[in-house]
Amino acid sequence: MASSTLLAPGSGRSGFKTALWISLGLTALFVLMTSEVLLVTDYPMYHAYRLQVIADRHFLIPHTLCGVIALLAGPLQFSSRFRERHLKFHRILGRLYVISVFIGSFTGIALAAGRPGLPGTSMQAAAWMVCTTAAFITARNRQIVQHRQWMARSYAVTFTFVSSRVLNLWPRYWSHLGDAFAAVGVIAFTLASLLIVDIGLNWRELTTRRA
Ligand code: HEM
Repeated sequence: MASSTLLAPGSGRSGFKTALWISLGLTALFVLMTSEVLLVTDYPMYHAYRLQVIADRHFLIPHTLCGVIALLAGPLQFSSRFRERHLKFHRILGRLYVISVFIGSFTGIALAAGRPGLPGTSMQAAAWMVCTTAAFITARNRQIVQHRQWMARSYAVTFTFVSSRVLNLWPRYWSHLGDAFAAVGVIAFTLASLLIVDIGLNWRELTTRRA
């Protein structure tokens, strides 16, 4: 498999990595303000969904806790400097990430059970668990290049929580959520996220002809 060009340490791409993390952080902040804060403050367009979220709180609380852990672990886990200085903490946080992904996935499926979104959520959860398990196994096998690549794929699925909510304030997008379109949308976001990561991982090979 090609070596990682997206996240390889010491590859002179630290400027790209910084810009990437800043844009991911700003996007997450935007979604926090326009989806989560407005959901809490009972924004009229979100009212019906708010009632559903309140009814689902028993699964939603562990789901959100685990999702937030997975989301926040990313910037630390991908930092080459942090990993080099705190390898033990990287391993502990890595295990916590794996547990969070599994709990987040199963509670996500439980939340979607009996609703049109179930096929999409199940596919998203499967991709999340498969990529994370592959990342865990490659780490155990000391296959560090492949470990980094699988973690990038896993985190791309983690980030679909943010990317799939960027358009929430657009009424045409929002009004379709909840019907069968949501299932297709979730699958499309998951697939697109994985493809973007793989294009990034193979960027050098895609843009450079071998001598
Ligand atoms: C960073 C990771 C994640 C976080 C922080 C997170 C958090 C949340 C939160 C706060 C909600 C309720 C409010 C809202 O919809 O905005 C929610 C809903 C939901 N999430 Fe996640 N989530 C994450 C990833 C996932 C993944 C990967 C799946 C798929 C397995 C998933 C499945 C669901 C489902 C089905 C709902 C709807 C709940 C309902 O209908 O009441 N989530 N999530």
